[in-house]
Amino acid sequence: MSLENLLKLSIGDLFLKFPYTKDFFIDHLVPYKGHENYTINQLFNNMDEEVIEDNAINTELFISSLVEYIELMNSYFASEQVVENTVTIYPGTYKDGTDENFTKIEISKGEIISIVGPTGSGKSRLLADIEWAANEDTPTKRKVLINGRVLEPHERFSASNKLVAQLSQNMNFVMDLSVREFLDLHATSRMVENKEEMIIKIYDKANELAGEGFSEDTPITELSGGQSRALMIADTAILSKSPIILIDEIENAGIDRQKALELLISEDKIVLMSTHDPILALMGDKRIVINNGGIESVIETSEEERSILSKLENLDKTLMDMRNRLRLGKRLKFEEEL
Ligand SMILES: Nc1ncnc2c1ncn2[C@@H]1O[C@H](COP(=O)(O)OP(=O)(O)OP(=O)(O)O)[C@@H](O)[C@H]1O
Ligand SMILES: [Mg+2]
Repeated sequence: MSLENLLKLSIGDLFLKFPYTKDFFIDHLVPYKGHENYTINQLFNNMDEEVIEDNAINTELFISSLVEYIELMNSYFASEQVVENTVTIYPGTYKDGTDENFTKIEISKGEIISIVGPTGSGKSRLLADIEWAANEDTPTKRKVLINGRVLEPHERFSASNKLVAQLSQNMNFVMDLSVREFLDLHATSRMVENKEEMIIKIYDKANELAGEGFSEDTPITELSGGQSRALMIADTAILSKSPIILIDEIENAGIDRQKALELLISEDKIVLMSTHDPILALMGDKRIVINNGGIESVIETSEEERSILSKLENLDKTLMDMRNRLRLGKRLKFEEEL
């Protein structure tokens, strides 16, 4: 929304178009009731000097932050409309400039791909190449097609499509909304039919993922890092229409990573996740191996590895169990654990 167009709208139309702006007026103590047919400038021009002073309204600042707020909200909510279901990666170069040695990599919907490789090898870089639908214009010089074609600049994914990775950052703009208000807003903007049901589902899942539960009235800004990530993961999994989910190291979120991943996986989505965690690496159908900035190979998870995975999951349960006991101030006993 350009400033020019925003200033042409009546306040009533503004609220219709961007329902969340009503709260923005209320939060900034700008009285609008009875003046819904005014534009913003008309509203300010007809406002009592006294009201402006008492409510500490800075008209210029109000308008510029309103534009900023609408842009942020749009980048979060609107970019979820794209319905795509294949990703094709064409080779670029390693960090030293030599060519990557594969013809192309195709990923279709329903596939879960993990990305493995040493620290600094280029896993996040690969995710970013996909997020931006790279067109030989990133450090790797890779080309990424979405549904078989290069995206136009305006179609390139916005930051919000890098869902989980950017989620906690994205939360900052939600201002003083409570968990419930945020979910309500999101569900409204997605125009879901069973809104109330959705909200409860997301809220319950988020609480299940987070170690320490939180109430619906908690302001988003007061959630812990792990709690806000849990909320965004549940929100993304249940409400988002985004067909491609990019996850950068879910294991660092401090939440139940396996449950989180299971929630995010769905038949019609592509999930790509970078990870240092053997369990998550083996949960993928395939893994992309990265070294020195380049894709070295794509390995399909074998049957044998799948049985190893279930062993690892058992070990992990033991480990989690011990961690919880230690957290609760208990002592560990050798014979009980092994
Ligand atoms: N092919 C490449 N050509 C040039 N630079 C690259 C290439 N691949 C990665 N890089 C750069 O190398 C740096 C490290 O890469 P990146 O952050 O993706 O590593 P990572 O595997 O995610 O590491 P970590 O496991 O620590 O998160 C980044 O600055 C990235 O842009
Ligand atoms: Mg990384």
